[in-house]
Amino acid sequence: MKLEFPKGFLWGSATSAEQIEPKGFDKNNISTIWDKWYSEQKFRFFNQEFSQNNFKEKYKEDLKIAKNLNFNSLRISISWSRLIPNGKEIDKNELKYYHNVLDEMKKNGLKIFVGLYHFDMPLWAQELGGWNSREVVDKYVEFTKICFENFGDKVDMWATFNEPIVPVEAQYWYDFHYPNLIDFKGGIIAMWNILVAHHKAVKVFRGFKLKSQIGIILNITPAIPRSEKNEHDVNASEIANMFQWKALLDTVAKGEFPWTFIEMLDKKKLWPTNVVKNGDRELFKSEKIDFLGINYYNPLRVKSLDYVPNWDGVVTPHTHFYNQYEMPGRRMNPYRGWEIYPKSVYNMLMTIKKDYGNIPSYISENGMGVEGEEKYRDKNGMINDHYRIDFINEHLYWINRAISEGANCFGYHMWTYIDNWSWMNAYKNRYGFVELDLKTNERKEKKSASWIREVIRTNSIQVEEELN
Ligand code: BG6
Repeated sequence: MKLEFPKGFLWGSATSAEQIEPKGFDKNNISTIWDKWYSEQKFRFFNQEFSQNNFKEKYKEDLKIAKNLNFNSLRISISWSRLIPNGKEIDKNELKYYHNVLDEMKKNGLKIFVGLYHFDMPLWAQELGGWNSREVVDKYVEFTKICFENFGDKVDMWATFNEPIVPVEAQYWYDFHYPNLIDFKGGIIAMWNILVAHHKAVKVFRGFKLKSQIGIILNITPAIPRSEKNEHDVNASEIANMFQWKALLDTVAKGEFPWTFIEMLDKKKLWPTNVVKNGDRELFKSEKIDFLGINYYNPLRVKSLDYVPNWDGVVTPHTHFYNQYEMPGRRMNPYRGWEIYPKSVYNMLMTIKKDYGNIPSYISENGMGVEGEEKYRDKNGMINDHYRIDFINEHLYWINRAISEGANCFGYHMWTYIDNWSWMNAYKNRYGFVELDLKTNERKEKKSASWIREVIRTNSIQVEEELN
């Protein structure tokens, strides 16, 4: 059965500066929290590898690859730390580099999505207090202003943040981004300040009266309770939603940070004093997004707490408000340790339709990271990543179904078109349609490359039967 996508549907990939630009670790240029962390604790990174795609030199070649895959759109991110290295002056070479990249993207017929923050805090900004500092919020807004001023309508779609819950969790709760703080309230302050930064950036953007649009990229996986019939599990899923995405999405899309969330934290003495400043709430109300990017990899299954938590010790959402649930018999991607459940993508799009005014949205990231793909090489040396084809096809099925039921979804971006560096996992799990040879830096197509080329050319997918 052939399932067609709407005319003009956007097809492409997402990338991020820190994950593709460097050509290896440079001890003479410690500019982001990642350079810093690697310089201090490189054993925390898989095989002790640092980002080495070298897009800065290879962008012409890489953008041609995107075009050859038939992409009509692509997301990159601009590195704040490299554009404004000391937090004061713009680096003219970097400005020129980003102009060149954007021009080259246009030349290759790509609709341009640009992210303004993708986990890559400049070290100088972290030293000022990172997302716990209002000074850093203002510095971020200055950076976004510089981007709007200089690149303006060269960019079609601006995204203020990629997955803002991740720096909150990773820097403050679960120890997977520098500076590895374990500080519950710090995380809540970061969440609030990022929301302030987002809204201030949207306000500055509106001032330029550009033709381009502005939005944000969130991972809004709806939590699935262990049992729909157990009120404690259902309650846990509602709390998990609040932490994971609802507080963020309600604020950016409806202008209101949920009071119920504040009350819940306040009861446990976990709502930080002084986090809300004069004017924040008015700002949230006044600046709305034009579109929403939705990143989706795996479902979030939860259950009510197994044990009474100790509120005097370290507090985290997963241990004190809900527990994660490993459903028996679940389908897994064992390499990344993530469950595969394509239907969640449909549920998310229908939630946006029902509860968020069907705001224009697109799937801004989705993909499958697999370790040791060499074992899938065929006799011609090409990686036969049939599992990736199945994974994407099934997700596209559910996206198509949501669109046919009225979801306002305008595109699909896969993470990512060329294998790249994945933070602490470094080059362990590969995501690309195109393989990156770490020894030679060569790019070689995997089997999924010709498959996606055809999907995009026909603007459709093939499925054998309806899924449930
Ligand atoms: C998303 C991020 O969370 O997931 C990407 O936006 C990231 O930056 C991707 O690479 C895949 O996750 P991971 O941890 O396997 O790289």
